[in-house]
Amino acid sequence: MIIPLALRADQTQEYYFSVKLAEVRRMQAAGHDIINLGIGNPDLMPSANTIDALIQSAQQPASHGYQPYKGTAPLRQAIAKFYRHTYGVTLEPDTEILPLIGSKEGITHISLTFLNEGDGVLVPELGYPAYRAVSRMVGANVHEYPLLEHDGWQPDWEAMTDLVAKSSEKTKIIWLNYPHMPTGAPATRALFERAVRFAHDHQVLLCHDNPYSLILNKKPPISLLSIDGAKDVAIELNSLSKSHNMAGWRIGWMAGAKAYVDAVLTIKSNIDSGQFKPLMDAATEALGNSDDWHRERNAVYQGRLDAVHAFLDALGCTYTTNQEGLFIWAKLPDSVESAETLVNDLLEKKHVFIAPGFIFGPKGNRYVRVSLCVTKERIEEAVKRLS
Ligand SMILES: Cc1ncc(COP(=O)(O)O)c(C=O)c1O
Repeated sequence: MIIPLALRADQTQEYYFSVKLAEVRRMQAAGHDIINLGIGNPDLMPSANTIDALIQSAQQPASHGYQPYKGTAPLRQAIAKFYRHTYGVTLEPDTEILPLIGSKEGITHISLTFLNEGDGVLVPELGYPAYRAVSRMVGANVHEYPLLEHDGWQPDWEAMTDLVAKSSEKTKIIWLNYPHMPTGAPATRALFERAVRFAHDHQVLLCHDNPYSLILNKKPPISLLSIDGAKDVAIELNSLSKSHNMAGWRIGWMAGAKAYVDAVLTIKSNIDSGQFKPLMDAATEALGNSDDWHRERNAVYQGRLDAVHAFLDALGCTYTTNQEGLFIWAKLPDSVESAETLVNDLLEKKHVFIAPGFIFGPKGNRYVRVSLCVTKERIEEAVKRLS
């Protein structure tokens, strides 16, 4: 006998990577050398100062107790400084920044804060799976907005207008994410201006997820909050996971107007009790990494790109070369039945794992996503295994 689960537990599927990586680990345990090009888990180190700050802080007696629910003041000040330096955006450290245990968790806090059962949420038809999954968990109605492949995977604003206008329920949230994962489409000011206008016109909350702005960006990074009028209708999630090689540390934050930050804090303070102080002290240090540090990290990813392109060429996939972020998004050749077939064949026969596009939405069924998070030599080894 098992006690019945809540409906939401029955209706929610385990995260694809949670299941698939367990399979990868079983194969590794059986002695297979798996090259994992699936997940965006940076293999490079955080800056040396960051690690030093962690160690020093851990040695202080005052570092081990509960911390403020809003994170430490120096961390919020460092985030504000980072926003000014990186995006030219001014944030008030005490009221407009809320440190989070990673931005993934922030998606849940925001959804719990703003969504009533039956409210409408617009998510990109290809996007980070948590937007959709969490919206459903809180009982919202999820609608996918189309992305226009021929227009560089930009949102289809006309279709979005229809979705908002024709929907029987109130649309409360739009999830937006540029540089876009998984397609690698860059952020542009024009796109963000359009998004803010749309949010004002339709009175919806624009939730922008911005973890990739510093990875292989070809132009200066942009924050949605740099757009005039954005703070009235938008909040932004950001994170040290990818930009500072700190994915396992679980450090992110939400930025936005005080009223939004206060509301999310009310919910969040009932869920978790903040972060370990040495992590926050180290994150404070990391946020001061020099522009050169970021350039060097990007140079390593740039070096891996050629190898990933060679890998995709060997598979007969096609891709664009203007992509930003930690992945390359590629279309399957007609000869391949589906992403699932290709991914499973590669894993079983070549011991190479890549992500199938459908995990980001059904539109991804004929695409795959390849990560830049393993060394160039290992990617070249994957290319050899294909020949
Ligand atoms: C688009 C996007 N948003 C959010 C996240 C979660 O990042 P974090 O590690 O800050 O929770 C990821 C991680 O892969 C992502 O790709």
